[in-house]
Amino acid sequence: MILDHDLYKLTDKLASERDLTDEEFLRILFCDDPEFISYLSAKAREKKEEYYGKKVYIRGLIEFTNHCKNNCHYCGIRRDNKNALRYRLSEEEILSCCDTGYGLGFRTFVLQGGEDGYYTDDRMVDIVSAIRKKYPDCAITLSIGEREKESYQKLFDAGADRYLLRHETADKEHYGSLHPIDMSFDHRMQCLKDLREIGFQVGCGMMIGSPGQTMEHIIKDLRFIQKFRPEMVGMGPFIPHHDTMYANEKAGSVELTLRLLSVIRLMFPAVLLPATTALGTLDPMGREKGLMAGANVLMPNLSPVNVRDKYTLYDDKICTGEEAAECIRCLKMRVSKTGYEIVQDRGDPAG
Ligand code: 5AD
Ligand code: FES
Repeated sequence: MILDHDLYKLTDKLASERDLTDEEFLRILFCDDPEFISYLSAKAREKKEEYYGKKVYIRGLIEFTNHCKNNCHYCGIRRDNKNALRYRLSEEEILSCCDTGYGLGFRTFVLQGGEDGYYTDDRMVDIVSAIRKKYPDCAITLSIGEREKESYQKLFDAGADRYLLRHETADKEHYGSLHPIDMSFDHRMQCLKDLREIGFQVGCGMMIGSPGQTMEHIIKDLRFIQKFRPEMVGMGPFIPHHDTMYANEKAGSVELTLRLLSVIRLMFPAVLLPATTALGTLDPMGREKGLMAGANVLMPNLSPVNVRDKYTLYDDKICTGEEAAECIRCLKMRVSKTGYEIVQDRGDPAG
């Protein structure tokens, strides 16, 4: 039996040394004592505020295609899901999303999509260049999956600053169980390395509670993140999608996700860490709880409302009926109730 005061000491050690042994991490991650959790999250908030004050950064998410050549077992827009209603946004439509977003105070645009062969390097370079030209003061983030290094280089040269590519799990065998045989753990890792070498600010991350995930896998994720040193970590709970083989699996735990947000903040004080839409989907106060646990980024949707409900990676996603303006109004109110404040800023990493 572990004495509680040990865990408080471990938290202090994590805050000052930014690291623990595997066994110590496990003790923190397994503990669901509310008093301890409130201590852990207070430490994480303190650390966040040292670097970012009360600021919360917003990223305008433009989900520009739900076509995907991949078949990830967990994902609602996987290739073989014949029930998914597919769409693509044109360059004009994407620019119009940016326009709306800019007016609402967004200074980062995130172009996210499935791995869609329609968006060749040339087409993506055109889109990125157009955004870069029109919004020189904004950051452009891409989240369009695995490509070859030359392709990433072209996108970077066209003006993209950041790239999100979750590693999904740092355990090769677990990766193999979440993905079909034609997807490669090694290639995904290579992509992350390439992105880093090119000079992107890079985000990796994982789902919490994905089928087959153990606490040992999560420790491996932490060790991988420690080695890779990403600028951003995207981490949300797994949520089943009814058209996938995981339809009847359990969703990930909100509480464990929150504990992990705090642990990540204490390990990497300057990391840009979103409170994800998936967290807000499982718990109506999930995003606020995420901010209170150490997150400092929100990624509301700028996609046109008529395509929103088609970008469904998981069931019951929130905000599919709201216009961008409504979401930002709603979020400003929600955030201000936490004592934090949404700012109009590119939100680059501190320090
Ligand atoms: N539940 C939660 N997150 C999911 N993602 C994909 N499918 C799901 C799901 N069912 C996450 C993956 C991907 C990111 C864009 O969304 O981690 O990298
Ligand atoms: Fe979209 Fe609240 S954030 S409606």
